[in-house]
Amino acid sequence: MKNQEGKPLLRVLSGKNVSPPPWWLMRQAGRYLPEYRELRKKAGSFLDLCYTPELAAEATLQPVRRFGMDAAILFSDILVVPAALGRKVSFRDGDGPSLEPLGKASELGESFDPAKLEPVYAALRLVKSRLSARTSLIGFAGGPWTLACYVIAGRGGDFAAARSWCKTNAAGLDRVTSILADAVVAHLSLQIEAGAETVQIFDSWAGLLAGEEFRRWVIDPTKRIVGDFKRRYPQTPIIGFPRNAGAMVGAYFAETGVDAVSLDWGVSLDQARALQTHGPVQGNLDPALLAAGGKGMEKAVRDILKALSSGPFVFNLGHGILPETPVENVTRLGELLRGGP
Ligand code: CP3
Repeated sequence: MKNQEGKPLLRVLSGKNVSPPPWWLMRQAGRYLPEYRELRKKAGSFLDLCYTPELAAEATLQPVRRFGMDAAILFSDILVVPAALGRKVSFRDGDGPSLEPLGKASELGESFDPAKLEPVYAALRLVKSRLSARTSLIGFAGGPWTLACYVIAGRGGDFAAARSWCKTNAAGLDRVTSILADAVVAHLSLQIEAGAETVQIFDSWAGLLAGEEFRRWVIDPTKRIVGDFKRRYPQTPIIGFPRNAGAMVGAYFAETGVDAVSLDWGVSLDQARALQTHGPVQGNLDPALLAAGGKGMEKAVRDILKALSSGPFVFNLGHGILPETPVENVTRLGELLRGGP
């Protein structure tokens, strides 16, 4: 008989098949939820919400309470790491993040100040004390390359500035990604100490690099993070999300040492199955299909389940949930994943 003990997500991340597969959604807390919009109003700014433990804990728990996902992901942001390295970070409504752009590598301080992020760890402790016995708690950080994109450019967009450093200031970019990688290890470790049971590295802009550049600024710094982290927490699984990495996903999975890989919606189900022979995979419903709902979504969900449920698999989106997603589509998704009609 199959042993079904333990939390479903953690079982899959340790390489086991779990049926039905566990699920959670990237950006599962957020603006598509009316209760989040209420909470956000109460908090004032997005960063105030992130840095007020009671409110961040509530935002983390809202989607789990409503939909019963198998995991809660800490409500926070990847840009708290540059903030703890002394960069000024702000979010303007409808405009995304804004940082002071980095002129040269030596402007980036090396000392990560954990005291600045104490409210984030306090939020994790609160969530941990309130979660059911079968729900896992996920911590996270940005990948060094993705963080470097924001730190160098100072904002979202095409990240031409970071791409230009690849060609004209490679040593500076090595230094920036190395400082960020050390800070990510410190931040992930403190999240584990506060109760996170697994962590995901979001390298959302990995797809901007290819070939040797992908190796140097995505794979190598991630490999260092995984090595340093695993020396401290050998039993704790790490999920990597190298978004839009295309042909490089296999190399990323094999070489970084992550336990599982989260796949964007551009990855075909054949490719996903091939990757699953290397270890657990997570993904990869197109968030626009969840927003659209109906028969198109249902077919896509069934196709994913059919292709990937025979191996270690976590159902998720291929990128974050869209703010315009109707709540009832997420309810319907939960029913489908639990074997509903
Ligand atoms: O998954 C979750 O529910 C946890 C929370 C979470 C947020 N951001 C909350 C958030 C996570 C895991 C992130 C990661 C993050 N943040 C990434 C990597 C994942 C991805 O989506 O590619 C990136 C690139 C960021 C940086 C960031 N934060 C951007 C570009 C923006 C603006 C775009 C947007 O969606 O508004 C944010 C803001 C942000 N982070 C919001 C939330 C809920 C919206 C803030 C609001 O309430 O107005």
